[in-house]
Amino acid sequence: MEILNKEKLKEVLERWKEHPSITGLMEKFDQLQSYTNKSYKSLESYTRQKIKESKYKLVELPYIDVKEDPVRPELDLTFRQTYGRKILGLRDDEGDISAIVCFAFTDEVPKTVEELKKFSYDAALKATHRAGVQGSIAIAYTVWAKKKGGGRAIMNQVYKRIKKSNHLNRLVTLSPLTKMARNFHIKNGAKELQVNETSQNFEYDISLEDWETALVKAKGFLNAK
Ligand SMILES: CC(C)(COP(=O)(O)OP(=O)(O)OC[C@H]1O[C@@H](n2cnc3c(N)ncnc32)[C@H](O)[C@@H]1OP(=O)(O)O)[C@@H](O)C(=O)NCCC(=O)NCCS
Repeated sequence: MEILNKEKLKEVLERWKEHPSITGLMEKFDQLQSYTNKSYKSLESYTRQKIKESKYKLVELPYIDVKEDPVRPELDLTFRQTYGRKILGLRDDEGDISAIVCFAFTDEVPKTVEELKKFSYDAALKATHRAGVQGSIAIAYTVWAKKKGGGRAIMNQVYKRIKKSNHLNRLVTLSPLTKMARNFHIKNGAKELQVNETSQNFEYDISLEDWETALVKAKGFLNAK
């Protein structure tokens, strides 16, 4: 591989240096290769280019401005991208990112960010011993909309993707204790799993058939039992 932009390569490797999974690194290889071959000026322009090139609606974002996150602005980019954690954006038909959701993959449901950090770290270590399949639970620990309706749309896309996954069998949130988060997830078809001291967890049942999902959403929308 020809390295055209060594400074950027160093910068990217620096961010991934604590990544425990070689498989994870291999997954990033294509991304890294196109980055080094095209010599983008910044990670932002690389992100914009990747979004343009992507055929899919859900795209993994290598860069976001974490200060835009209304829920957990204190979590930096490194936190959001190490130990298997991912930032996903929803590209709309105008090519804009209309919502962002951040994920961690665990084998237990966290009640705090500290637990989220620990459980996803543990799952990542286990994954290195098991050829890269990390965690059975996808934890959405922040979601926000950049355009109205984007929040709902990204959760729907994520739901479909996780339903298809072979190793993920639960989709759970680690949400702030706000009415907005509660209304949003309940209206979207999720069930309250538990209310904790500083957070609440909602669960989207990915074992449901499509018609059952539609029924649960209709009930949430109409506030019916
Ligand atoms: C919650 C959020 C993601 C919803 O995005 P969206 O689906 O694109 O936005 P919508 O405006 O269509 O709202 C969807 C539902 O969220 C809930 N909601 C949105 N704003 C709300 C508010 N200020 N107070 C209470 N509930 C609210 C409502 O149930 C709303 O449905 P309704 O308009 O039919 O009542 C968006 O408002 C946002 O980015 N909020 C800040 C971040 C946040 O609190 N995330 C929540 C969980 S981690």
